[in-house]
Amino acid sequence: MVSAPASTLVRKPRNATWAQATGLPLAGLTAYQAIVHTLKLTEGETVLIHGASGGVGSLAAQIAVKNGARAIGSGSTANHSYLRSIAVEPVLYGDHLVRDVRAIIPEGVDAILDCAGRGVLALNPQLRRAGYRSCSIADSAAGATTVFARMNQAYLLRLVELVETGSLTVEVSATYSLEDAAIAQLALRDGGKKPGKIVLDVD
Ligand SMILES: NC(=O)c1ccc[n+]([C@@H]2O[C@H](COP(=O)([O-])OP(=O)(O)OC[C@H]3O[C@@H](n4cnc5c(N)ncnc54)[C@H](OP(=O)(O)O)[C@@H]3O)[C@@H](O)[C@H]2O)c1
Repeated sequence: MVSAPASTLVRKPRNATWAQATGLPLAGLTAYQAIVHTLKLTEGETVLIHGASGGVGSLAAQIAVKNGARAIGSGSTANHSYLRSIAVEPVLYGDHLVRDVRAIIPEGVDAILDCAGRGVLALNPQLRRAGYRSCSIADSAAGATTVFARMNQAYLLRLVELVETGSLTVEVSATYSLEDAAIAQLALRDGGKKPGKIVLDVD
């Protein structure tokens, strides 16, 4: 039994598994706050999401697309088919990222969301369009606005609605038992994981 303030609770989306529902609050609130509240991404704009195949990035990309934006997202090559399946135009992170993004959109993007850290925002100057803004969830030293997940029941209710109307799906990368939490941590650290969230099953 766990007690919590009622203002922090919402019901589980009817069409989500428990593993998917578990993956929604932290990652979803972070993604929603970044895309809607901080970047204020609007219809017709283009966003580049570094780490779009990850737990937060995959939700941010879907929220951006739902809001009528065009999403370009980085991820490893193995996760590009997943990115296409959520209407994201994939690019590989690393040396050729700037070249590949400019090949897709030579005039640059309206916004960049950093869900990867590792100094990726340093690439920004070559990708900016007038009115450009950026934020990071992973790198407070990046010189951009840093977004931290905050409980917001209205946003959480909106996330539930997006899941129930089929606009948002929590991709579960893998599920581990609590006893295997250390193995889960290694999977996060070493990379090469399938897209989406790693979930711990506390049983
Ligand atoms: N501010 C907050 O409130 C908040 C909330 C949640 C998470 N976070 C932080 O945000 C970050 C992302 O969390 P997450 O759960 O989405 O992590 P995640 O699921 O592990 O996703 C990481 C993403 O980064 C990509 N990536 C891996 N190596 C890269 C590289 N060398 N260059 C560029 N991208 C690379 C991954 O691509 P592939 O998997 O395709 O290789 C994946 O898309 C973490 O640092 C986490 O601690 C912050």
